[in-house]
Amino acid sequence: MKTVVISGTSRGIGKELVLLFAHAGFEVYALSRNKRVVLAYADGHPNIKALEVDINNWDSTITSIKKELTKIDILIHNAAAFINKPFSEMSYEDMQSVYHTNVMTPYFLSQGLVQIMPAASQILAISSIGGVGGSIKFPGLSVYSSSKGALNIIVECLAEELRDREIFVNALALGSSETEMFKAAFPDLAAASQPQDMAKYIYNFAINSVPLVNGKTFPISSQNP
Ligand SMILES: NC(=O)c1ccc[n+]([C@@H]2O[C@H](COP(=O)([O-])OP(=O)(O)OC[C@H]3O[C@@H](n4cnc5c(N)ncnc54)[C@H](OP(=O)(O)O)[C@@H]3O)[C@@H](O)[C@H]2O)c1
Repeated sequence: MKTVVISGTSRGIGKELVLLFAHAGFEVYALSRNKRVVLAYADGHPNIKALEVDINNWDSTITSIKKELTKIDILIHNAAAFINKPFSEMSYEDMQSVYHTNVMTPYFLSQGLVQIMPAASQILAISSIGGVGGSIKFPGLSVYSSSKGALNIIVECLAEELRDREIFVNALALGSSETEMFKAAFPDLAAASQPQDMAKYIYNFAINSVPLVNGKTFPISSQNP
């Protein structure tokens, strides 16, 4: 049975990914700050293991994961912190906390988990179209979008560093999907997709991209935003 570890699974796209992978026969380790919520929607599915962790504490998250499993085939960095605030009001603490969750956490969780990732496994970062150079930008999203830009470059760098171990590293730069995060960014707009459909795309990419794709960021977007 292949094993997938997914962060940020209490709601939105992460929740839909957990359900898709579990129904497809993967053993799914769902990382969340709220295990109770995951257990409720998992509804006893034998393939879903909920781990209550604060991913921002890398060491304890890595220890908890390694206690439970000895092999990861797919590691999906889906969790993200979001802030919508004008440049003039953004504080050091705002930026520090978003960069911690969106940039440093995927970096250091990957560093601590690659030891248990075999050849042909992959790290998949869920990024944002706003983090792609040249895409349309929106007021208030400077910290969030730039954190995703950093994540995209980390993906390129790690793909090179992990090439010898045959661990593949890619990012999907998502366009809009109807979740709590989208509502916080664009309260008056409708998103281009539902989280179930976005999750399907991510699932298909995850199971089909190795060994054809490595070190790439793909925009998955049809409109702005
Ligand atoms: N929705 C969109 O339009 C859109 C567009 C572009 C990119 N994305 C990306 O898609 C991914 C999923 O987003 P979503 O739209 O599904 O968002 P969401 O519904 O707001 O869910 C985000 C998840 O991230 C975790 N999270 C939130 N803040 C966190 C923090 N400070 N520290 C640790 N974990 C935190 C939560 O996990 P737990 O509560 O389980 O811990 C939550 O389930 C994110 O990487 C996001 O940047 C989304």
